[in-house]
Order: sequence, then C-alpha cells, then structure tokens
Amino acid sequence: MTNKKRILTGDRPTGRLHLGHYVGSLVNRVRLQEEYETTLIIADLHTLTTRNSPQDIAKICENARGLVLDYIGAGIDPEKTTIYLQSAIPEVYELNTLFENLVTVNRLARLPSLKDMARAANFNDESFPFGLLGYPVLQAADILLPRAHLVPVGKDNEAHVEITREIARRFNSLYGEVFPIPDVMVGEEGTLIGTDGKAKMSKSLNNAIMLSDDAQTVARKIRTMYTDPNRIHADIPGTVEGNPVFAYHDLFNPHRAEVEDLKARYREGKVGDVEVKGLLTAALNAFLDPIRERIARCAADTGRADQILLDGTSRMQQIARDTLREVRKAMGLDRTMVRVRRAVERRSKQ
Ligand code: TRP
Repeated sequence: MTNKKRILTGDRPTGRLHLGHYVGSLVNRVRLQEEYETTLIIADLHTLTTRNSPQDIAKICENARGLVLDYIGAGIDPEKTTIYLQSAIPEVYELNTLFENLVTVNRLARLPSLKDMARAANFNDESFPFGLLGYPVLQAADILLPRAHLVPVGKDNEAHVEITREIARRFNSLYGEVFPIPDVMVGEEGTLIGTDGKAKMSKSLNNAIMLSDDAQTVARKIRTMYTDPNRIHADIPGTVEGNPVFAYHDLFNPHRAEVEDLKARYREGKVGDVEVKGLLTAALNAFLDPIRERIARCAADTGRADQILLDGTSRMQQIARDTLREVRKAMGLDRTMVRVRRAVERRSKQ
C-alpha cells in the first residue's frame, strides 16, 4: 500500500446505474481516484437485507457485472481503483460480528434511512429483519476493513457513516487505536429529481435515465418528461425554478449561454417545450456518448469485467487479512479463539 489516504464507497448490486448515481457519487469517485487510494465495494450482502429470495440471489452476479461496466463507463480506472465483491471477503462477516457489540439497538432503530428501506420493502414491525437493523453495522465493517479515511456517499447514507464513526471511536477507546475516524463527503447535487418531477431518480420508480440508455431511449424519456404543467401552450410564461427539465439543463448542458437564453424565453412564454427538450436531449446524449462508448468497449472484451472484479477482490483480500490481524490483536482475541482456529486449520490441512 502507498501512503495515500484511503476511500471506501460503493453500491448494492440491484441494477444498472443512472444519472442520479452519476451526479450524487460517480463524478466524485472519478475525481478522487487520482488523489486517494480508492476502493469500490459491490455490497451484495447488503442487498440480502431487503431481498433474499433465490431469484434475487441469482441476479447478483449479472448485476455485479453491470456495476463494473457502469463504473468503467463513468471513468473509474481499474488500475487506480480496487473494485471488489463484498461477500467474497470472509473478514467482513467477522468484523461485522465484532462491531455488533459496539452500537445499541436503540441507536440503529431510530435511523430514518432504515425506516425508509423497510417501507420500500413492505416490511412491518413483524417482518422487519434483524439483518436490516444491522445494515449500518455491516456498512461500518465495509468502511473500516480497509481503514478508510473518507467515504463519499449520497445523502441517504450520511447517517450510516456517522454510525461508522461512532463504532470506530468506540473500538479505539476500548481496545486501542486501530481505525481512523472516517470523514463523510456527501455528493454535491444531493439527490437528482427523476423525470417524473415527483421523486428522486430511482430505477424502481421508472423515472431514471440510465448511463447505458441508448440515444433513442434518452430522447423518448426526455420527450415524456415532466415539465411546468401550467404551460398548455408555448406562449404561456413558465416556471424555471424547480422544473426538472431546467435542473437537467443546469447539470448536463455545458452551453451556458444557450441555457440562460432558454430560461429567459421560457419565463416569457417565448419558447416551446419541443425546443427546450430537444436541446436537453442533445446535451444529455453528448454527455453520455463517451460513457456509453467505454461501457461498450469493456462489454465487448469477453471476461474483462469479471477479471476486474477478481483482481480487485484479491487485492482486498490481502488488506482485509491485515486489518483483522490488527483487530484480533488489539482485542486480545489472538490469544484465545484465534489460536484454536489456527490449530484447527492446521489440522484440517494435514
Ligand atoms: N449503503 C450503500 C447503498 O446505499 C451501499 C454500501 C454498502 C456502501 N457498503 C458501503 C456505501 C460502504 C459506502 C460505503 O447502496
């Protein structure tokens, strides 16, 4: 390892990534990989907290490959960034178990993010799984396994990094300084509004533009996108503020003068939606073209995405072993249970 500071962040493998992921986190990750030793976790164990049917599990592999493609598309460089599969590293299960004793049930049960996830998964008090309560603890294990210094995430994960900081502090004060207290970095754009203008962009709400959408799909999604509903004619003055069409123009159209001109004419009722949306489609497709191209190139190279994941996971395995060695030593576990475990391992090899 170098003496660069470390980043750990990542995603659950539930599907392909969209523009909301791009502005909320991918753009940060791509920039930061130059300066930090960056690790991206594909958090498949976290998906089990809300979806664990055999059918859900069967999709993990393909979804993980999709994530790798989207990372590469967004500009992640696998030479600089380690991409790994969470469930393939046994040390994370071990660290999770140890961390479970450093946080209270009450602290976790109050988290709004868990209530949101429970609502989305249709859990009630009776069906709320123990594993979902432990979601932030497992995330703390992810973050502290590479002893990360910085965690760039979306707003919905901010509270989980706070839990991670509390667990790290508690560990260090009980057993000695093993972990840095990681800082959180929340994506600048917070949450991107979806094409329906109602909720944050999310694949399950059908209001998302995917990084892998082709140009025609983007054109269709923009054509049917929510805009100022009061403008039934092009000559009615419209509202720019809070209008998702202009929010996207602001974010993805680099031609500032064009955007300002459109806004001015929109406010005066001097431009049609077809023109405003047509220019947005052009801007978005220009933005997505290089991303789509990198995705296509990686996908065409058979076995490439799997190889990237395998290389990254092997690298992470080494780091995880080092951290757990430190953790067991600090806790005094190396003198007791781990000694037994090693002896058993030695015996089973004979
Ligand atoms: N909780 C993240 C999500 O909302 C995924 C995740 C799991 C994660 N472990 C992490 C993010 C560690 C940052 C750091 O999908």
